[in-house]
Amino acid sequence: MTGPRQLALLAQESAHLAPGASEEAALGRRVFVSGSGAILTDLDGNQYIDLAAGTLTQSLGHCHPEVVTALTEQAARLWNVHDFATADRVELCELLAGLLPPELDTYSFFSTGAEVVEAALRAVQAVAEPGRNRIGALRHGFHGKTQGARMLVHWDIGNQAFAGNSVLGYSPYCYRCPIELQYPSCGVRCASLVRKHIAEKPNVSALVFEPILGAAGVIVPPPGYWEQIADSCREHGVLLVADEVLTGGGRTGAFLASERFGIEPDLVALSKGLASGFPFAALAGRSSVLRHPQAGRAGSTASTYSNNPLGIAAARATLEVVTRDSLVEQVLTLGELLDERLAELRRQFEVLGDVRGIGLLYGLEFVRSRTTREPAPDVARAVYLAALDLGLRVSIGGHIIRLAPPFTIERALLEEGVSLLGRALERVTEAGR
Ligand SMILES: Cc1ncc(COP(=O)(O)O)c(C=O)c1O
Repeated sequence: MTGPRQLALLAQESAHLAPGASEEAALGRRVFVSGSGAILTDLDGNQYIDLAAGTLTQSLGHCHPEVVTALTEQAARLWNVHDFATADRVELCELLAGLLPPELDTYSFFSTGAEVVEAALRAVQAVAEPGRNRIGALRHGFHGKTQGARMLVHWDIGNQAFAGNSVLGYSPYCYRCPIELQYPSCGVRCASLVRKHIAEKPNVSALVFEPILGAAGVIVPPPGYWEQIADSCREHGVLLVADEVLTGGGRTGAFLASERFGIEPDLVALSKGLASGFPFAALAGRSSVLRHPQAGRAGSTASTYSNNPLGIAAARATLEVVTRDSLVEQVLTLGELLDERLAELRRQFEVLGDVRGIGLLYGLEFVRSRTTREPAPDVARAVYLAALDLGLRVSIGGHIIRLAPPFTIERALLEEGVSLLGRALERVTEAGR
């Protein structure tokens, strides 16, 4: 239950704050005052294990001391000099060059996920051959809420989707197969249909995709999906633009999720975990695209907050820790533990229709029955609230709960978090009997 001091503050705020908050904030009604590692504290002094890591952002947990130091020192030194060079930016470029595949050697810096997706779209449009004026996207993909990004989003994201200039392909949503087939006997038909689309649409300049579809519930493609589609894009001169705003930075057990699926993108959008949740984003690309005379026109990467020294400091410190402490490898080890524990929960609770994920990114799909697979958002909401009451924070969207623990979480705390989730499931399913 939300404590009394929080309730009073929320009542006061509601006199002025416009509606439109995320489902989790609107439902959860908590006022957090501090965070340290994987632990959050609310205004009434209750603590929570944060398996949602901020907004799936805090790869190093909340307020990692080295990121705090980097930000504090930077805050005392320099905040905004438009996009002039700084020593930190040079270091950040070097760090990225060491972590990304070698062909992705050119970078520009922004503040948010949607902003970096827009920058990728501008670059694609700048280098596109005449007549290639459409962009490919996947059903169930999410790329942000600015107008260009929404053009790629073909499902309801709380605002009506605007599918303007993009063409659509099937996502690899095996649990709810869009063409009602079953893996592996399907032969990954969804991918062949996307291939066909690409072959038949000479006006498509790029495919913008999430290698794993995050907001839609951590949809992990089966083997063969990306191989087919990436080959087809190469064959037909369609640029591969990986939106790794959520998956990039190590969350899936490789610095890029694209690497886990053998995709070699031309452009990659990075944000959430890149700077430990500080507003920051990077576009990484092949020099053939980002140094193309049309894409690299004066001012094309500049804006008021792009290249912000504070964001750069947070990203630099984050990547230094990720590299020094071999955290991408740690994601793989902790991911195995999470996978095992969640599989136990799935065996125990019928309402968990599907549990899927990779590295430290998981989606739990709640259903009314495993036979009908009818989504059960009310059950997901009840579990989400019961978990909060027990001292666990997860991320909710519709009938899906997502988990994205910090890479730095202790094993014992991760296990405790999952067992709290089990207790929340028990409470809800027993109450429903
Ligand atoms: C894959 C992906 N792209 C883009 C975005 C948009 O990022 P932002 O909310 O920072 O604009 C998100 C946000 O969740 C995302 O998951």
